[in-house]
Amino acid sequence: MAVRDGALLAIGDLHVEHPENREIVAGIEPESDADWLIVCGDVADRPEDVEWALGKLRDRFARVIWVPGNHELLAQRGDPPLLRGEQRYRHLVELCRGLGVITPEDPYPVWEGACGPVRVAPLFLLYDYSFGCNIAPTREEAMERAHAAGVVCIDEFLLDPAPYPSRQAWCEARVRETEARLAEVEPLLPAVLINHFPLIAEPTRVLRHPEFAQWCGTALTADWHRRFRATAVVYGHLHIPRTTWHDGVRFEEVSLGYPRERRRWPIARPELRRILPEPRRA
Ligand SMILES: [Fe+2]
Ligand SMILES: [Fe+2]
Repeated sequence: MAVRDGALLAIGDLHVEHPENREIVAGIEPESDADWLIVCGDVADRPEDVEWALGKLRDRFARVIWVPGNHELLAQRGDPPLLRGEQRYRHLVELCRGLGVITPEDPYPVWEGACGPVRVAPLFLLYDYSFGCNIAPTREEAMERAHAAGVVCIDEFLLDPAPYPSRQAWCEARVRETEARLAEVEPLLPAVLINHFPLIAEPTRVLRHPEFAQWCGTALTADWHRRFRATAVVYGHLHIPRTTWHDGVRFEEVSLGYPRERRRWPIARPELRRILPEPRRA
């Protein structure tokens, strides 16, 4: 689809079970009918809330591209057993397809606006605890330190990796599959890589609780922004919205985050981040 005068915009971590966030999502509008929107995971914990939010956004944007966060995958009390792990993810993919929303399971679309063409690649990669080397030499020790500090991600209790034996094994399978897919696509096109978790560990170094880094990504993707010619990498999960540069590649953390976090931020900020055309570098 050729797109003129549109922008590729992004937001993540909508967490619409919070009424303030729901109100923000209800008010999100494109600047042009040609705008595409990346929704970078943690839309909501419950599929019906994910459907509400993505449906609203799909009505307004030319294209909506979604990747799952950890929150979409949390098993909720009373959920049927089929809504766990990989099956929960597949259920969400089908829900997105019903809405016309692009998922990591669909062909990667090509954005053809100003400064395009650029391949837009939504990824679902999870984490494998390898970023925990920021606090301890082994995974076991890093986990012990997290428990001792009282900083343990809710995923440890609610993110069922079935049918994989562990979240780490699920992550490894996703990384293998995704790497093969990315290696197959047209190598000359630059890419926007989208993943709920940062592809590199550096952004986790500013976490208030360094123990949390082990739930934030995998060292297996450390060179993907270079290998797959990323013009930008879009991620969320940290709830630390900002732009950073690594090896000359722009990394955009696009979280909306929780209302209590926004009250701590001293300045108002736009709700949607422009990914393309590339904003002027400050
Ligand atoms: Fe989040
Ligand atoms: Fe998250």
